[in-house]
Amino acid sequence: MKNQREIEEGARLLREGGLVLFPTETVYGLGGDARNQQACLRIFEAKGRPADNPLIVHLASREQLASVCEGAPPEAALRALELFSPGPLTVVVRHNRSIADAATTGLPTVAVRIPAHPVARALLAEAAIPVAAPSANRSGRPSPTTYEMAVDAMAGRVDLILDGGACEVGLESTILDCTGDAVRILRPGGVTREMLLEAGFDLAPVESGGKSHGDSDGDGAYLAPGSRYRHYRPAAEVLLLDPGDHREAQALLDGRAPGSVLLIGRNTDISQLPAGVRSHAALGSWRAFRSCEEYARSVYDAFFQADREGLQAILALLPAPEGLGIAIRDRLDRAGRRL
Ligand code: TXA
Ligand code: MG
Repeated sequence: MKNQREIEEGARLLREGGLVLFPTETVYGLGGDARNQQACLRIFEAKGRPADNPLIVHLASREQLASVCEGAPPEAALRALELFSPGPLTVVVRHNRSIADAATTGLPTVAVRIPAHPVARALLAEAAIPVAAPSANRSGRPSPTTYEMAVDAMAGRVDLILDGGACEVGLESTILDCTGDAVRILRPGGVTREMLLEAGFDLAPVESGGKSHGDSDGDGAYLAPGSRYRHYRPAAEVLLLDPGDHREAQALLDGRAPGSVLLIGRNTDISQLPAGVRSHAALGSWRAFRSCEEYARSVYDAFFQADREGLQAILALLPAPEGLGIAIRDRLDRAGRRL
């Protein structure tokens, strides 16, 4: 936990237009004053982010939502935040133009989130301003989920980096579009479709196969603009495998250099792979997760470590497409996509 002096320093920097990298429970964020055009432009520059991919605005409390919304906040947004915030949920609402154009990229809507991590909460409360913060990775790369990854991605590009340890969720927040009649998941995350349905939300259907926001098809206006871009990719090639497809497993490993592949997946799935695959000389190491929560928490770190070790590929066993498994599959799918 940070001491009060660092929090105060971070808050001062934010208010003065500086950039502060801070931990949230999902991933580390790269923060700047959301009302300050120059600060927001600096965020894009530090990330190498395409200029038409809007930023998420972070608030200290639900009460602040009204200060960025056009008119009264939509009922669905208030209810979703009441149920799942502070936490890994982002709501998209119409804004009142108090947010810098660079942050919204000129859209009439803004994505808003109230993070739960104690360092993020303390920083936002102390700064008392809306803070635009995308994930703190260089554009296209995996999001940092540890202090080490954050420093590796952004040292020298920001004014301060706050250490909050390892992120508990490990994947970016669920984004919920609350601007229409039915709410729509634009990006799956820690608040799952099942949790929202159970809470009585009338959810618009997802893109085909429950695979979440696609890059190309469907009504583009409903998708998070960022989903158009290459994402979450380590230097190592990410190979995707359905755990039951043993023939494909063998094929993916064929011809790979000994010790050049990291295998990641649920431990129950890994243990069912044929011995020939598990003991394949090409496998450098394994990361076997006991739950989807652990998979989500560790997946970007596994990518990071694989790159550290200079591995050629990561063989990822896909979790079942339900609950948090949907968000994990979504990120793996994008990381593994050849563009
Ligand atoms: O968990 C998270 O959400 C992390 C932490 C730092 O809070 N932040 C994060 O930000 O993942 P970023 O910039 O990496 O992803 C933001 C996503 C992008 O896909 C962007 O297109 C989408 O949110 N987004 C932002 N504003 C939007 C809007 N008005 N309508 C639809 N999507 C929006
Ligand atoms: Mg991101």
